[in-house]
Parts: sequence; structure tokens; C-alpha cells
Amino acid sequence: MKKILVIGGSSGIGRAVVAQLSSQGHEVFATYNSTAPVDDYSNVHFFPLNILDETLDFSVIPNELNGLVYCPGAIDLQPFSKIAPQAFIDDFNLQVVGAVKVIQANINALRKGTGSVVFYSTVANQMGFKYHSLVAASKGAIEGLTKSLASEYAPKVRFNAVAPSLTSTPLASKFLNSDAKVEANAKTHPLQRIGSAEDIANMTTFLLSDQSSWVTGQVMHVDGGLSTLKM
Ligand SMILES: NC(=O)c1ccc[n+]([C@@H]2O[C@H](COP(=O)([O-])OP(=O)(O)OC[C@H]3O[C@@H](n4cnc5c(N)ncnc54)[C@H](OP(=O)(O)O)[C@@H]3O)[C@@H](O)[C@H]2O)c1
Repeated sequence: MKKILVIGGSSGIGRAVVAQLSSQGHEVFATYNSTAPVDDYSNVHFFPLNILDETLDFSVIPNELNGLVYCPGAIDLQPFSKIAPQAFIDDFNLQVVGAVKVIQANINALRKGTGSVVFYSTVANQMGFKYHSLVAASKGAIEGLTKSLASEYAPKVRFNAVAPSLTSTPLASKFLNSDAKVEANAKTHPLQRIGSAEDIANMTTFLLSDQSSWVTGQVMHVDGGLSTLKM
């Protein structure tokens, strides 16, 4: 049984990760911000946390942690010339500085627990897509952070990232709010469908498990083949 912290565990991909970890019998510490948790598991402790707050309270976290997943993210697609520089700073604070704060607060516990950390990147870092400059800038930083920290903390703590393509979650709902949009997006993927939160959670729980104990510093492309295959 592992002890795992999931930042953003009441919604989307994080919610699916929490469900899988709970069914595998792990003890999970999961945060929520604006979405109150509706799931009730005996081995999951939910607590509120806004990563943008000045001080973060991790007093419920044990002094030994075997895994950490950082879910907060954004997909704000706009023409580059319309994006104020401050929007890049705000996006970076949520997607990158938030991850930095959580890792720094819990690195000793992760070292004690020979932990595995999972971040999320995006398919828009493997390929260039128009209007994706905001998310690509932050997720590019996440990929760099993944590799740097993997090197710095080997062999005690592993760091990997999962880079999804469009996945059906509350965050992506504006791109998927009609059958026509779902079908059109599915058709752009070699595997002819969009992702589910469970598709991404499957890779995440693999990276948290001992089955991936020789994997670190990697970006796993879970994207229906979009980033590497021609149709
Ligand atoms: N869905 C996609 O198509 C897609 C594609 C590529 C990459 N990704 C990446 O995958 C990750 C998970 O995405 P998702 O689609 O599951 O997103 P989601 O449905 O919006 O879930 C994100 C989670 O992060 C939490 N969160 C957001 N802001 C927070 C804050 N200020 N403080 C603390 N927690 C906060 C949310 O909590 P509350 O709901 O409680 O506020 C939620 O639990 C993100 O990093 C995203 O960029 C997603």
C-alpha cells in the first residue's frame, strides 16, 4: 500500500487517478479547490487547497510519501497577439510555480518514500498548433522541470510527465460540448477517438507503481497517435 498525494483530485483526470489508486488499495491524500468531492472512498482523505495561495497547508500529509500527482492546468487558446503578457505569468503560476511549491513542500517525504512524481504536459509540446502559445509555454517548462528534477533526485525520487491530447474532462468541455465537435476532434486522431480521463489515469497509475521503477525523466505521449503518426 502506497501513500500518494493528488493535487486536484476531485475533477477530471485527477478524479480518475484517485478512483484507480483507491481501488488498488492505496492511501490517497487528494485536494480540491472549486469542485467539492462527490466520491466517498474509505482510503481517500480529501482536503481543500488553492495552489495560488501564499501559504499552503500540508499538515495532513504523512512524513513519508510514495507518490505525488500535480493536476492543475489550463487550456486557453487564443491568437498570440491577443494574449497579454500577464496572462503568461498567471498561466505559469498555476501550471509551473504551483508544481514547484508542492514539490518543494513535500520533497523530504518523497525522498523518504522513494516516491514517484507525475506531471502533465500536452500534445501541443510535441507538435506546434496555432493558438496554443500560452499552454505550450507553461507545459514546455513542465517538461524541462520533469527532466531536471529526475536527474537531481535520482535514484531516490522519479519524475515523469504524461502528455495527453484532447481528453474529455471539465477543463476540455468547451471543445467537446456537441456531438459534432467530439466527432470532428476524434477524426483528427489516428486512433479515431478523443481521450478519456481513464486513458490518462492508466498511464499515471503505471508511473506511480513499482512496475515503472526503471522509468524516470520521461514524457509519455498518451494521445491517440496524434503526435507521431501521419494519417
Ligand atoms: N483535458 C485535456 O484535454 C488535457 C489535454 C492536455 C493536458 N491536460 C492537462 O492535464 C491536467 C489535468 O487536466 P484536466 O483536464 O483533468 O483538468 P480539470 O478537469 O480542470 O481538473 C484540474 C484539477 O486541478 C484543480 N485545480 C485547478 N486550479 C487549481 C488551483 N488554483 N489550486 C488547486 N487545484 C486546482 C481542479 O480543482 P477544482 O476543480 O476543485 O477547482 C481540478 O481538480 C492539466 O494539467 C491539463 O493541463 C489536459
